[in-house]
Amino acid sequence: SSYENILVETRGRVAIITLNRPKALNALNDLTMREVVAATAELDANPEIGCFVLTGSEKAFAAGADIKEMSEKSATQMYTLDWFSGWDQFTSRRTPVIAAVNGYALGGGCELAMMCDFILAGDKAKFGQPEINLGIIPGMGGSQRLTRAVGKAKAMEMCLTGRMIDAEEAERSGLVARIVPAAELLDEAIRTAELIASKSKVAATMVKEVVNAAYETNLQQGVLYERRVFHSAFASEDQKEGMAAFVEKREPNFQHR
Ligand code: HXC
Repeated sequence: SSYENILVETRGRVAIITLNRPKALNALNDLTMREVVAATAELDANPEIGCFVLTGSEKAFAAGADIKEMSEKSATQMYTLDWFSGWDQFTSRRTPVIAAVNGYALGGGCELAMMCDFILAGDKAKFGQPEINLGIIPGMGGSQRLTRAVGKAKAMEMCLTGRMIDAEEAERSGLVARIVPAAELLDEAIRTAELIASKSKVAATMVKEVVNAAYETNLQQGVLYERRVFHSAFASEDQKEGMAAFVEKREPNFQHR
């Protein structure tokens, strides 16, 4: 299948989705959202795919939601269309997703990166929530996910001033997992995705589910939930294989079931 604003490539068990609207610095218009949602839906259902990498260009992961597409809309239109709600489908993907961010991740671009399971940043990456400069506020989860990621002080400062932070500050504050030299970012993201995809997809899906539960539950409920999911991992063939391989001092051969 072919898309207008994204490129989709699979390499072994890894799928690479590249935002590809260079003329608008990958601004996330409605079509781009629908394409990312559609492409990841198909890939999510494919047991041969174990991890996604979502990336943009060297200059921009994404410079935000598409300002030109939104500028003339009324509140009623935004509400009726439930603008941006389609991204919820992206966040419900079960396959792990790595955001590989080079250049600008601003507004909706930063919010999209934060919807992924973790962010690897190129050393020239810049993150920000500049919506305040447009007379609006974050609308794709930024006020919630950024606050959880970096804490209230920095989230508040970023959303109130629109100040961008660089990769170093993003790593220091817990927004990104790791910084990689810009030119090596995509290769490193793919290597990391290959590593994840080499594990049991059953277990990886469970990891994603229980870590995300930490955002939604109190500690006691979360720990109990983790333990129940842990117990259910013993229903998988991959658990038998993984533990047998350890005991037999060999590499496991996971079948993802
Ligand atoms: C639409 C955009 C865009 C955007 C850039 N472009 N960002 N178009 N929506 N978010 C377009 C520009 O209009 C321009 O098109 C082309 O991309 C290149 O951008 P330049 O500004 O010429 O590049 P540069 O000078 O290098 O500056 C890069 C930049 C700047 C600092 C990233 O583009 C910028 O500030 N962009 C907007 C960032 C922003 O405010 N993002 C938040 C969006 S609101 P032309 O045709 O002129 O060449 C948002 C809301 C989320 O995300 C939810 C709340 C509702």
